[in-house]
Amino acid sequence: MSNKSYYITTPIYYPSDNLHIGHAYTTVAADCIARFKRMQGFDVFYLTGTDEHGQKIEKVALEKGMKPQDYVDGIVVGIKKLWETMLISNDDFIRTTEARHEEVVKKLFQKVYEQGDIYISEYEGWYCTPCETFFTERQLDDRKCPDCGRTVEKLKEESYFFNMAKYAPRLLEHIDKHPDFIQPESRRNEVINFVKSGLDDLCVSRTTFNWGVGVPFNDKHVVYVWFDALINYLSAIGYMDDKEKFNKYWPASVHLMAKDILRFHAIIWPIMLMAMDLPLPEKVFAHGWIMLEGGKMSKSKGNVIDPMVLVNKYGVDAVRYYLVKELNFGQDGMYSEEMLVNRINSDLANDLGNLISRTVAMISRYFDSRIPEPGKADDPDQELITTASVAYEEATEKLEKLDFAFYIQSVLKLISRANKYIDETQPWLLAKDESKHDRLGTVLYNLLESIRIALIILAPTMPTLAARANQQLNIFEHPDSLKWEEARTWGLTQAGKLVSRGPALFPRLDLKALDEDSPEVKTAEEDTKEKKEESNLIDIEDFAKIDLRVATVIACEKMKKADKLLVLTLQLGEEQRTVVSGIAKAYEPEQLVGKKVVLVANLKPVKLRGVLSQGMILAASDSQDNDIEVLSVERIASGNRVK
Ligand code: MSP
Repeated sequence: MSNKSYYITTPIYYPSDNLHIGHAYTTVAADCIARFKRMQGFDVFYLTGTDEHGQKIEKVALEKGMKPQDYVDGIVVGIKKLWETMLISNDDFIRTTEARHEEVVKKLFQKVYEQGDIYISEYEGWYCTPCETFFTERQLDDRKCPDCGRTVEKLKEESYFFNMAKYAPRLLEHIDKHPDFIQPESRRNEVINFVKSGLDDLCVSRTTFNWGVGVPFNDKHVVYVWFDALINYLSAIGYMDDKEKFNKYWPASVHLMAKDILRFHAIIWPIMLMAMDLPLPEKVFAHGWIMLEGGKMSKSKGNVIDPMVLVNKYGVDAVRYYLVKELNFGQDGMYSEEMLVNRINSDLANDLGNLISRTVAMISRYFDSRIPEPGKADDPDQELITTASVAYEEATEKLEKLDFAFYIQSVLKLISRANKYIDETQPWLLAKDESKHDRLGTVLYNLLESIRIALIILAPTMPTLAARANQQLNIFEHPDSLKWEEARTWGLTQAGKLVSRGPALFPRLDLKALDEDSPEVKTAEEDTKEKKEESNLIDIEDFAKIDLRVATVIACEKMKKADKLLVLTLQLGEEQRTVVSGIAKAYEPEQLVGKKVVLVANLKPVKLRGVLSQGMILAASDSQDNDIEVLSVERIASGNRVK
């Protein structure tokens, strides 16, 4: 029996310019759902593409002195490259200038015309070219486009009209009977009110330019770009040439978009489908906008953010994570690079990254890197197991609803519970007592299980994470084809396999250090220096010679055959250092992992017992050196100076 099908779409974007992070927002969100559904065993078809006709594209191409087709061909290469880089798993990419699409547009336009729902008349009104939308006088906002605020043009031309009002009662009935058809709820009400206020017939052809699909029975006209574009959802799945495929995927499971184009999808498109005798999509979901501090991102404001730059800087998993977490069930989200960096540092580097590196470090140390067998579950174990099962249930439910932020929250709760479990069970104390060896094994096994479940739940958002983490954890047979169900069952990790320590999965980032535009300003004292008094006091310049830096301990172990020494691996901004320190009497290695210590970063490296120590960490001690306390900081990120 073939699997149940699931068809998800993004809007097809205008290739008038390179895409920005707003477009990536929708495309990553849809990709997250497509991957989730594939993990659940659905036969998924995920479609994205480009909307290449219309006056706006023609105008931009002309401004560049190019033919529209040549112009969009260039932009589309970049868009496809972007989606590849962002690991978008679309099954097809439809372009409205492809013959397979144009034929379907012509055929359907003809059909609707022949049955009398399209008629010829004259249009007189207003048009916003950037939005490719018609407006009546009363809809305008101070003579400007009510959607984008730009100048509108007065049009008077012979046009074909689509009789939408005829279908309005049927549409209202459909919305009423299918409460999930338009989501979120607030948007649904908005659409109902709009339809109830009366639908004008829609102008569906233009004569003043010709960059579009020709009306089949009147070559003076091209089909209105929205009537053309919406049909992509049918043409891409073989409406004309592959009935089997078409029947498998239509009606679509969900059309995803932002609120700006909801009306086209929740009013015009369903009415077109009714006129075409086709079933309506199951769901039309409008998420909010991603905003910048100065408002909505737009080319005209010059504040667009290129997702490619972010991915190159922060990695694809981290950028995707940020976008998905920012998608708050239809609400607007905010973007700032600082927020992105903070989120990577707190959720990914601190909470998830440290959980993984601590667990691997402890299994390496206490069990010779071999995954221990679990024993009987104790109290805190039960609580952890329940948290994992709740995380699975919640994540599934939230993803089904496209409630992205809460889906991420559900897994973050599990990660934080697992970190708390380390504090509660104190594995480093269990390790000191031979009789508690089995208990220690159970604790470490449970940590691995929590990590395994968290990684599966996060896989739709961060497609490379499981495979990268698995190089250290060795818990997945096939990290690239995980099954969602496997996050439901506790205890699937196989004991006896070997873990191996590796680099941090999400090194902590320092926004300032990453910003190449802010070179360090040095106050160079050029004046001839006064003769200094011979004394014990030092000048500020002398102190400044010591390069003190905040560094995160990402791994730590005892030096073999040296009971006072610990070998620490430190993350210093982008760089990693090894430092040998005489603090083993005061600290178990695990107590230091995750701490941000102060490092003398420009100390000449020395070899200590065969290990090259690249710096020294600062510690306070009592007069007899009986008690030692490592200096640490809380808020300042690794790589920053201490001065
Ligand atoms: N070509 C039409 C869609 C036709 S679909 C049959 C179009 N294209 S667009 O390039 O303007 O894309 C609009 C869509 O891009 C939004 O609905 C949304 O999915 C995405 N976004 C563009 N900017 C955005 C934000 N700032 N925030 C969130 N999403 C945004 O409309």
